Amino acid sequence: ARIASNSPKTFMGLPEVKIGLLPGGAGTQLLPRLVGLQGALDMILTGKNIYAYKAKKMGLVDDVVEPDKLKRAAIIMAERLLKKPMERKGKKGFMNWFLEKTPVGRNVVLKQAGKMAMKQSQGNYPAIPAILDCIETGVKKGLEAGLAKEREHFEALMLTPESKALRSLFFATTDNKKNPYGKSEREIHTLGMIGAGFMGAGIAEVSVTKGVNVLLKDIAPETLQTAQSQIWKSLQKKVKRRALSKPEAQKQMGNLQPQLDYRAFDQADMVIEAVLEKMDLKKVIIKDIEEHSPEDVIIASNTSSLSLTEMAQAAKKPENVIGMHYFSPVPKMPLLEIVTTEQTSKEVISACYDFGLKQGKTVVVVKDGPGFYVNRILGPYLNECLLLVDEGAAFDVVDKALIKKGFPVGPITLLDQVGLDISAHVTEVTRPLFEPREGFKTTPAVTQMYEAGRLGRKNGQGFYTYDPKSKKRKGPDQSAYKFFNGNGDKKIPLEDMQNRAVLAMLNEAVMCLEEGLIANPTDGDLGAVFGIGFLPFTGGPFRYLDSWGPANVVAEMER
Ligand SMILES: NC(=O)c1ccc[n+]([C@@H]2O[C@H](COP(=O)([O-])OP(=O)(O)OC[C@H]3O[C@@H](n4cnc5c(N)ncnc54)[C@H](O)[C@@H]3O)[C@@H](O)[C@H]2O)c1
Repeated sequence: ARIASNSPKTFMGLPEVKIGLLPGGAGTQLLPRLVGLQGALDMILTGKNIYAYKAKKMGLVDDVVEPDKLKRAAIIMAERLLKKPMERKGKKGFMNWFLEKTPVGRNVVLKQAGKMAMKQSQGNYPAIPAILDCIETGVKKGLEAGLAKEREHFEALMLTPESKALRSLFFATTDNKKNPYGKSEREIHTLGMIGAGFMGAGIAEVSVTKGVNVLLKDIAPETLQTAQSQIWKSLQKKVKRRALSKPEAQKQMGNLQPQLDYRAFDQADMVIEAVLEKMDLKKVIIKDIEEHSPEDVIIASNTSSLSLTEMAQAAKKPENVIGMHYFSPVPKMPLLEIVTTEQTSKEVISACYDFGLKQGKTVVVVKDGPGFYVNRILGPYLNECLLLVDEGAAFDVVDKALIKKGFPVGPITLLDQVGLDISAHVTEVTRPLFEPREGFKTTPAVTQMYEAGRLGRKNGQGFYTYDPKSKKRKGPDQSAYKFFNGNGDKKIPLEDMQNRAVLAMLNEAVMCLEEGLIANPTDGDLGAVFGIGFLPFTGGPFRYLDSWGPANVVAEMER
């Protein structure tokens, strides 16, 4: 029998799939027998965490008690088991019986799970079909056959390049938790957050949940209200999953102080601004922060495209100015890109690194420059995809090609999602960097689309059409081809499309390393995988380049 504590710190799972393996200690065989085929497939194929109450509901544990009652509960359970062996009852209902207990039903479940998993992984993760094979063998041919299959697949998976790459990412993420600048003396207890919009609210959320006091300032009362309810909703979701207790959620919410003025900013250890993307406004905000906060306060900007070096010139103490570039949506996206200028002090970087770790982020430190690192490598990739469209490829065909390659979102869809206003801005900021390069072709399409009033998904006009009510994406917007030379009717070989786009990104990543923008290839890999979702099974652009072979990459680029 198993008894779990109900602490939110208690969670269970079989995470091996995340490192390209399968749960080799009989996990693929025993779990389906314990919790049923459907529950086991979900757990093993996703590697997700299951919290105590859900574990009890699905039959993974037999009882859930308060942490301090574990021993007592164990004794009671042991005494009960001495009298009567455990009888576990599966889920009730005809449908469940059919899907779990009949050969036809199990076949339906296995087939459906296989289809879903392959769609999500696009055939890029060998662990997925291997896990399905083990489970299917166990279900159809019995435990012994299943265990043999498990051994066979485990040994093969250990040697796959995908598992090696995923393991190296895992170790790099673990190493990343050590602050390379040394543990900071300055702890951030109080954060001033200026701008409670989409990003500000997200940064506030990942801070209050870690016990940081957040003074959340905006100029619009309704934005403050929206931010508050957004954070509360997010906490409630965790309460519902029993990943957080109600009093703890209330306590976390208590760490948030929404306000329209600079009250209590004299207590702030750090202030992050996430107001509109306008240099003049950001400079005014820096002056305001200096006026209302302690002299040595850290002044951070969440800008995604403006020069930190220029911004820092507005500060009395430019050594305290730094970029804290979060990705949207902040509570979900794992990366924090810290941007430093020539003047930023080591002590400030160190404090920000620790703060990012506290917020649960994977942190990379990069130097200031157009697009920093993540958006800079994204630039030539998106540009290449737009050039494919210019040559006649259809929007959805380019998207599908890169999803098949392993990106979480197609590049054209991504532009619509980010918004063509922001995309045009980033394009213009990075243009001076790319255009002077010999042979580098750019397309003005996104800027022209923005100037024509197309903002992407947010106003329902972009590369695709959107349902006005649900904002759900419909088909490609044929009228958007007028911004291109092509009209979507030309076929370009799949591999050519994939290689051209990916190589443009690899090339840029190497340039960032050469220019010293990133400190080492590992940071480049982490930034790309966690910031953009760059093909995790390759381990990131630099590792991918190594496995492809630099000479082969050059040959393919020259072709
Ligand atoms: N949206 C993204 O995907 C994303 C990603 C990374 C970085 N960023 C950056 O984050 C910043 C904010 O972006 P967003 O998407 O949250 O914008 P947003 O429009 O949702 O929020 C901006 C907020 O700033 C407030 N504001 C404006 N002037 C102010 C002032 N003087 N004092 C206090 N508040 C003020 C506005 O009322 C608004 O609520 C920008 O610099 C943007 O480049 C955005």
